[in-house]
Amino acid sequence: MNVYDSARMADLMAPLGYTLTEEPADADMAILNTCHIREKASEKTFSELGRLRNLRTAKKSRDEGDMVIAVAGCVAQAEGAEIMKRAPFVDMVFGPQSYHQLPQMVAEAARGVGHILETEFPLEPKFDHLPDEAIDTNLSAFLTVQEGCDKFCAFCVVPYTRGAEFSRPAAAVIAEAKRMIAGGAREITLLGQNVNAYHGEGADRKSVSLARLIHDLAELDGLDRLRYTTSHPLEMTEDLCLAHRDVDILMPYLHLPVQAGSDRILEAMNRRHTAADYRRIIDKLRGYRPDLALSGDFIVGFPGETDQDFEDTLALVRAVGYAQAYSFKYSPRPGTPAAGLDGQMVTEPVKSERLARLQTLLNEQQLAYNQSFVGREIDVLLEREGKRDGQLVGRSPYMQSVFVPSPAHRIGRIATVIVQEGNANSLRGELKPGSVADAA
Ligand code: 5AD
Ligand code: SF4
Repeated sequence: MNVYDSARMADLMAPLGYTLTEEPADADMAILNTCHIREKASEKTFSELGRLRNLRTAKKSRDEGDMVIAVAGCVAQAEGAEIMKRAPFVDMVFGPQSYHQLPQMVAEAARGVGHILETEFPLEPKFDHLPDEAIDTNLSAFLTVQEGCDKFCAFCVVPYTRGAEFSRPAAAVIAEAKRMIAGGAREITLLGQNVNAYHGEGADRKSVSLARLIHDLAELDGLDRLRYTTSHPLEMTEDLCLAHRDVDILMPYLHLPVQAGSDRILEAMNRRHTAADYRRIIDKLRGYRPDLALSGDFIVGFPGETDQDFEDTLALVRAVGYAQAYSFKYSPRPGTPAAGLDGQMVTEPVKSERLARLQTLLNEQQLAYNQSFVGREIDVLLEREGKRDGQLVGRSPYMQSVFVPSPAHRIGRIATVIVQEGNANSLRGELKPGSVADAA
């Protein structure tokens, strides 16, 4: 979502004459869009700010003018005052719900009003104030349809940093999707911290579910692929599960975090479902879409997690079989309920050992999954040039990165690839002759 937000910030700055630069050293303004989800991401803010300060000093000493330094995103939201204190050279700090005010903030900064701190949750949604004109659209584009979260998992800062659940009206989402398609997008990923809780306003003020929205978007000319992320098991409604069977452009890949496999820990996490509930959802989805690739998020070392609890997580992973997954050591976050469970903290070496064991298992599953594709034909949206000359990289329906030798003019096409090699993080193959027309 930070990628989406950053693109919208670029859209907002374009009418003021700003363009994106690949060279931070030359920038007239640097916006650091930050993540607060774990301590590691959060701490990066301060090291990056040090780097930006050096770039600004160097720019000034070259007589090339000043550099405005801004901090956006969830660290700005949660630690705005702290940033101003620890990094007083920062000109602007604003949270994820106030970046639509960027033009005003830039004007104020130009008038020299001093530091700007903008971390209120505005009454009007920021989406009402974002420009329609996008300056750049990727072949595979992100589209925020939902933001914030009311689930309050005990470990998570999102409900505090991104705020309460909000769904954009269906018509606004469809209009933005059409602009993205007109700009060249062939694949759209619908975004939300709790995207499957989407309930936007539709025609006649009726509420529209994510499943309905997916059906409506699937009707748009020129759109070849749809995805959505990220979801909560409790919101995997019947209509959404059925969409995986019925909507052919909905890709057979689902990121459905479970976090842990022990019911005791799931309860302590306030996840409000059991491991068996999760498995039932997966079984149902696979009944509707047998080739569905699954991805998940896992936390090891949540306060109070015993060896047996951790074994339950491994057992769940073995039972489900993931195509891909993300796993993290529990990181206490300020202001969250779990951060108060000091007495039950799992030690760092135990967390490290559990993470290593979990990742070994997940990596084995991922490798086996990728290897099972050898010899098969899959459709790949060719997105960009690979590292090697004459090589393109794209995504399979199952979210794997696929490398093929191909001239660059095929970027933007969906080609059939014969898979020759399945590696830990990618597939390699060759284009099926005749599967992609060469004429423009
Ligand atoms: N510690 C570790 N991992 C966390 N996540 C969220 N909060 C924390 C935390 N405090 C992970 C969860 C979530 C993903 C986005 O980040 O697995 O699904
Ligand atoms: Fe955080 Fe996701 Fe839980 Fe919401 S559902 S509190 S975003 S982990």
